[in-house]
Amino acid sequence: MSEMDELCITECTRCPALVDSRSRIVNGTGPDDADLVFVGEGPGAQEDSQGEPFVGRSGTVLDDALRDVGIAREDVRITNCVRCRPPDNRDPTKDELESCRGYLEAELAALDPAVIVTLGKVPSEHLLGRSVAVTNEAGTLEDIRVDGTPLRVLICLHPAATLYDRSQSTTFEETIVQAADLAGVADGESGQTRLDGF
Ligand code: URA
Repeated sequence: MSEMDELCITECTRCPALVDSRSRIVNGTGPDDADLVFVGEGPGAQEDSQGEPFVGRSGTVLDDALRDVGIAREDVRITNCVRCRPPDNRDPTKDELESCRGYLEAELAALDPAVIVTLGKVPSEHLLGRSVAVTNEAGTLEDIRVDGTPLRVLICLHPAATLYDRSQSTTFEETIVQAADLAGVADGESGQTRLDGF
């Protein structure tokens, strides 16, 4: 069993409202040595039903943007701030975010990726510990420490923002290009699979 498998949780009853609303716990997916990690807010209905992050409409937007820069979804790590679906797709509460923080931080420290891309306001504020105006700050890079490990966070719009407002697509896609460059994927430095030519 890999280190990342051991960090996947199968039991948790810390958040009573989420225990009631979830069908299952949704752990992060992707390789243990991913250079690029995407952090969302929490599972929605599709994710709760399939047990995998970003498999609904937002996931399609993310997959398409990754494909455009030649990256396969299978080659990046995708995870969330909270691992259980909040009722009625509400934002996770501060208490729920804090209850789940240890799982996320252990995952990020073990991965030690080149770049963590925060998808939307909730993960950006959660990891940076400050308020973030995502529309204005998309593409901003900031250093953080998690369990003593220095990590880089790249602020990005949530993919769903592009579904509500098509004019946001360019900003979203540009940030994904930036993330690929920062992770060294664009020039073939990383071990991640390029889809060019396929
Ligand atoms: N939105 C998120 O923030 N995370 C998911 O896994 C799906 C949609």
